[in-house]
Amino acid sequence: MSNEKEFWNEETLKPLVSNRSAIMGGTAWAAYAPDPRKLISFAGGIPDVPSLPNNLILDATERALKNNRTESLQYGGTLGPIALRTALAERSVQTEQFEVRSEHVIITGGAAQGIGLVCDTLLNPGDVVLVETPTFPGTIRTLKSYGVELIPIEMDSEGVKLAAIEDALTALEKKGKKPKFLYCIPTHQNPTGKTLSLERRKQLLTLCSEHQLLILEDDPYGEIWFEEPPPSLFSLSEGGTIRVLTFSKIVATGLRLGWTLAPPDLISRMAALRYDMGSSVFLGNIAAELIRSNQLENHIKNLRGIYSRKLTKLEEALELYCGEHVRWERPAGGFFLWLELLKGLTAEAVVTAANEEAVIVGNGNNFNVTPSDSNATEHIRIAFSYVPIEEIEEGIHRLGDAMKRILAEKGKGS
Ligand SMILES: Cc1ncc(COP(=O)(O)O)c(C=O)c1O
Repeated sequence: MSNEKEFWNEETLKPLVSNRSAIMGGTAWAAYAPDPRKLISFAGGIPDVPSLPNNLILDATERALKNNRTESLQYGGTLGPIALRTALAERSVQTEQFEVRSEHVIITGGAAQGIGLVCDTLLNPGDVVLVETPTFPGTIRTLKSYGVELIPIEMDSEGVKLAAIEDALTALEKKGKKPKFLYCIPTHQNPTGKTLSLERRKQLLTLCSEHQLLILEDDPYGEIWFEEPPPSLFSLSEGGTIRVLTFSKIVATGLRLGWTLAPPDLISRMAALRYDMGSSVFLGNIAAELIRSNQLENHIKNLRGIYSRKLTKLEEALELYCGEHVRWERPAGGFFLWLELLKGLTAEAVVTAANEEAVIVGNGNNFNVTPSDSNATEHIRIAFSYVPIEEIEEGIHRLGDAMKRILAEKGKGS
């Protein structure tokens, strides 16, 4: 074969790559690029840094190696480490209303791989998927790579709108089509922070069961609550839906460890499709030790306090510095506050002006499922999880200044 430069370039790769690779393009997703300025970042759904549980992980690692040395350092199969599957199933007695068995569990490289595996197992090019909008851009990206048609489903103040699902199903039926599943984040949603009420959850499950519409429930933030949320759709449907979970937000994103709950036959299908020889048994056994020692429960309780205090600080600062320009509803948990912009402020203008003040916030339009999703109002997403609590007031002060500057410049122009 010819030398690297001649062969490996964009032009020569084009006819070689798969359809999925062609859709995704050539730029790899990576964590945020460093910025030399002293930024205050409300950008990413990233956990609080000081509370990352180094010591708990060190202790659990020692126990995993002492108690289970051979198993921890060998292949474990594509369903994932049995010790963790069993520990998660046992934990469900406290955390779920439905008794999960280890056959309901597959261990994955974070929620992201769980979603990818569900898509690998269920989707063909040309399929249709219903997606609540706005939503997590990582999933939009994943779904698009399968060459499927995405139908945005609007949300109201409570979450995904049932009438919008019905309308979409009727319109699709007329074309002889049926969606493969509905993707939603019913608890402390990313980006809106909304949580679907118990009543709406039950109605959603009834609607989906009438139409035999499968639900893919993405739930990375459910355990980070300030007011306890209703049971998951998976619990309420007694295991009839798919639920994707992760250790990213309750332990550490760097573990790249998560799990998916689904009917056992579907779990087997997902495991059968895997070519990565399964998730790390070493990491899985560490997580199992964390669960078994009860240290995880205490850590999560501690996190709830940390994030709730950050949210309170954020709300106080918003009242003080941005009050008349914005509106929001306090989320009952999670990492995100969805800030509605008033008085003609656009997300684009606020993101740009805030950036000039060295404050990073998320443009709400980036969470739309399709560029043409109708936005009656403009929003920015404020992630309050990562920013140190003592920097929140300063960050929001700068955001308020940015808004005032935009409005003053607008005033001059008119
Ligand atoms: C809604 C949602 N789903 C999935 C993920 C992916 O999480 P993980 O790190 O577990 O892959 C994220 C990460 O931010 C998320 O917000």
